[in-house]
Amino acid sequence: MPKMVFIEKDGTRREVDAPLGLSVLEIAHHNKIDLEGACEGSLACSTCHVIVDPQWYGKLGVATEDEEDMLDLAFGLTHTSRLGCQIKITQELDGLTVKLPPATRNMMVDK
Ligand code: FES
Repeated sequence: MPKMVFIEKDGTRREVDAPLGLSVLEIAHHNKIDLEGACEGSLACSTCHVIVDPQWYGKLGVATEDEEDMLDLAFGLTHTSRLGCQIKITQELDGLTVKLPPATRNMMVDK
């Protein structure tokens, strides 16, 4: 089974199982990693914002326009930011490493 690594806000590395077809958000939830995902993957919140390791960023599919629009509103946006609910694990992503941002903004409640 593929693995992926989350780097938590305090710098802790957590290597976890990453079943094929699951999203990074789902994997975070299965492993009690503090990634919120308030809208449960419907591209309406940006609380699932993750910062993808630059070595991995190019291996992900391109973000859709809707994802880009939501990311523009994310707190602490970086060049390798993506929404965790939109990244689905494939065999090529075995070893994927993402960092949790220092804070998130929930577009559903923060105006
Ligand atoms: S969970 Fe809300 S945009 Fe990803």
